Amino acid sequence: MEQQQPEVVVKVVNSGPYQVKGPVKLVDHDGQEYEVPQRRSVLLCRCGQSQNKPFCDGAHARTGFSAEARAERPAT
Ligand code: FES
Repeated sequence: MEQQQPEVVVKVVNSGPYQVKGPVKLVDHDGQEYEVPQRRSVLLCRCGQSQNKPFCDGAHARTGFSAEARAERPAT
């Protein structure tokens, strides 16, 4: 059975942001929409240090943010 590709993929970047690929609508707590480029991926801050939240501004590298996460792989 062929597995269908999702429209949106969120990648947890090692010691960095969430990289969101695909057509997304990003809204704030009140539902107000952020302007998001549709052609490229969007990088969302995971470290909490960005001065441009919710977007990553590279602060994770300057502050030494370190986090590596891996999804559990099914046993074979
Ligand atoms: S993950 Fe890049 S500034 Fe926070």
